[in-house]
Amino acid sequence: MLFSFGTALCALGTASALVISERGVETRDVSGTAHVYLKESNGPSQHYASGYIYGIPDTPNQIPDHFYSDIAFQYTRAGGAQTPESKGWIGGQDDYTFRWESTLSNYRTARQQGGQFILLVHDLWGADSLQSEDAPFPGDNDDWSFYDEFLSALISDIKDNDLIDGVTIDIWNEPDGRNFWDREQDQYLLMWGRATARFKSELPNLALSGPSVSYPPTPDDEWWNNWASYVVSNQSLPEEHHWHSLSKTFTSTEMLKNYDALLAKYSATREGLVNINEYGHPDEQNPSGSAWWIAQLERANIFGCRANWASAYALHDFMAQLLGKPGAGTDDYDPKATGYYPNGEYQVYKYYASSMVGDRIKTETTMDTNGDVYATVDAEGGVLRLLAGARTTTGTWSIQLEELSALGLPKSGEVGIHTYEFPGSDDPYARLDEPVDLGTVTHKYSEDSLTFPIYSENVYDAWAFEIKF
Ligand SMILES: *[C@@H]1O[C@H](CO)[C@@H](O)[C@H](O)[C@H]1NC(C)=O
Repeated sequence: MLFSFGTALCALGTASALVISERGVETRDVSGTAHVYLKESNGPSQHYASGYIYGIPDTPNQIPDHFYSDIAFQYTRAGGAQTPESKGWIGGQDDYTFRWESTLSNYRTARQQGGQFILLVHDLWGADSLQSEDAPFPGDNDDWSFYDEFLSALISDIKDNDLIDGVTIDIWNEPDGRNFWDREQDQYLLMWGRATARFKSELPNLALSGPSVSYPPTPDDEWWNNWASYVVSNQSLPEEHHWHSLSKTFTSTEMLKNYDALLAKYSATREGLVNINEYGHPDEQNPSGSAWWIAQLERANIFGCRANWASAYALHDFMAQLLGKPGAGTDDYDPKATGYYPNGEYQVYKYYASSMVGDRIKTETTMDTNGDVYATVDAEGGVLRLLAGARTTTGTWSIQLEELSALGLPKSGEVGIHTYEFPGSDDPYARLDEPVDLGTVTHKYSEDSLTFPIYSENVYDAWAFEIKF
């Protein structure tokens, strides 16, 4: 037993019972064994999971640099959404300009911090889910002139301000839902074809992405089939393949398999990167859920941006709820205030990005897919590091290390496992300055393999384990 908790574990042992937690979240049990195959490399670490949507203040340098570099910031997505002063293009020139300035500021911050930028066209238009019910959409009444003028303004602003390096244009966010596209899919597809043709001819160096649907693809889904069929015949399959994973459905490898199967129905194949450009249900946004997501994205070699569940200016702040500051989450919230501090989830990303250096090691989830582990081997420093968490589940599960001899260790003997805990809660603004050091426990092993238990007593906490070799 690695570490012992005061609470009796048998309380969790109600196998397969569904538990409704205090927050009304449906949690399931996690059980079984996640595997770490020490002989098999998955390539050098790249921090595929260190992205988030919005989360950057509109004032330059408001969040200190180290908060970006410590998590190896990779990606943001922005377009001036939900600024209360401005409705975007549909509110007139000044409203559009206001959102453009926010977009440009976020772009410059992203580049300064070494990240990529995904431009959100729907926000600049003004369909950010807070638009009024009678808001216009591109192509209403078969009249495209208002949208064509919008694209002309946007393309010239992109060129004039050199918003080129590191930019992907996301054609429209969540076109499958009323919040962002309150029209039929046919009208959306015509917009897609039109936008692609213009961006490709006028901004040939920028990558396009989409369809950024609110749920992952499956080969039988009607919306996804209509889209795939259209983009193949219109020759507008995007260079980058983006969608969202916001409810607890598929694993990363299942999502890729489903997307490829969908494209195959139309004789198309996936080239270019995949980005789950909004990942994480609110219930998954805690240390445990983030550790699970990190393991998932790294396994499949696909990028991800954390979903951001804040609104208005809090949406443009806190690195998508990885940070807090005085007044956060209260009526005294001030968008321009500083005094940032990290939360428990931030510490997970920091450990992932700053400590987990070296080669990524192949791992496998528990059979129920709820428990997962990300692993790196730092050959120079002689440390194996594991990051483990469960997807909105509680229960006892295990991690099995296979072929310790690949690290130069004997096939049987003893090793010390040094454990750090990343405690979480459902308060995204709860401060955590560093993980909790739970010390080192010696484990005996044999037959080149070591199994140790994980006690996920709540849905929040994640752990890191370090073994020296
Ligand atoms: C794709 O659709 C758009 C909008 O209808 C059209 O302008 C464009 O020419 C089409 N492209 C191809 C290759 O058919």
